[in-house]
Amino acid sequence: MNPKRRPIIAGNWKMNKTTVEACELVRKIAYAVINTKDRDVVVAPPFTAIPGIIDVIRDTNIGLAAQNMHWEDKGAFTGEISAEMLLDLGCKYVIIGHSERRQYFGETDGTVNKKIRQALNKGLLPIVCVGELLSEREAGKANEVIERQVMGAFKGVTAAEMQKIVIAYEPVWAIGTGKTATPDQANEIHAFIRGKVKAAYNADVAEGLRIQYGGSVTPDNVSQLMAKPDIDGALVGGASLKPESFAALVNFK
Ligand code: PGA
Repeated sequence: MNPKRRPIIAGNWKMNKTTVEACELVRKIAYAVINTKDRDVVVAPPFTAIPGIIDVIRDTNIGLAAQNMHWEDKGAFTGEISAEMLLDLGCKYVIIGHSERRQYFGETDGTVNKKIRQALNKGLLPIVCVGELLSEREAGKANEVIERQVMGAFKGVTAAEMQKIVIAYEPVWAIGTGKTATPDQANEIHAFIRGKVKAAYNADVAEGLRIQYGGSVTPDNVSQLMAKPDIDGALVGGASLKPESFAALVNFK
């Protein structure tokens, strides 16, 4: 954590929670983080729960994210959701390029780039996920993969737009496995990403960029991760589905 950057803790609920369950969860979270003023708190429920949740989080310090969107404005894209639809529901952020989308739904650096540009054009703040597979790490290719994903994602994105982006570094081998990257391993990749952004843009953009770590973050390991200078937040899956654990994560010391 660097005091110049405001921490951002986001809960990615994935394909979990009906509307009733989602509203109950977010109500408890809102209560637990009512006095949390020095960091951003974000929840990313499934699309179907968003209309219910928006009423619960009105006048709270919780920001709303979608988990995905399409890059076109509208049209014949059965099953897809547009940026405008998300804005219409009250979303502020959108997660783009999560490894599960890359792995199971054919997303590539190219589609990730189109989605980022569309989100920025429409006024949504992208949370862009990057991360290497276990086989890539074992082959010594983690940096290469991350560089390719970062450069591919931000093609055509201006320095001013870059200031609206949050990057989430999520090593695929750490997601949902209980295996966290060590704080040093995570910080090394975060510093690497910041260096690439500095080279592609400038020092101001790089210094302002918030980079979350994701992959088996829990209340037990969040403080060690957040103590590292280049780790500015967390993108949390499993531990964001319980109000006590998500609140404990948000309120890390
Ligand atoms: P996890 O998921 O916290 O359950 O590992 C993180 C993520 O996929 O964003």
